[in-house]
Amino acid sequence: MTALVQAWYHGTDRNSAVKVQINPERCQGHGRCYDLAPGLFGDDDEGYGMVLGDGTVPPGKENDARLAALNCPERAIELLEEV
Ligand code: F3S
Repeated sequence: MTALVQAWYHGTDRNSAVKVQINPERCQGHGRCYDLAPGLFGDDDEGYGMVLGDGTVPPGKENDARLAALNCPERAIELLEEV
């Protein structure tokens, strides 16, 4: 079970940051993301997952993001980590 992890470069000198995004072509509305990490994900009118805000994961919530990504049956959640 793996999550897609990509390098994320934002072109500044800020400390490492993690962003999440949902691939809308994969999401089938299973809802595990917003059940497991309600601070990072919400649902739209049809129950499909959506990231809150711009998807930036607040410090200390990285594990919630990973948990959601690992538990999405469709592998629709992508973690983009600055390296
Ligand atoms: Fe969609 Fe996966 Fe969440 S299918 S609703 S991104 S758990």
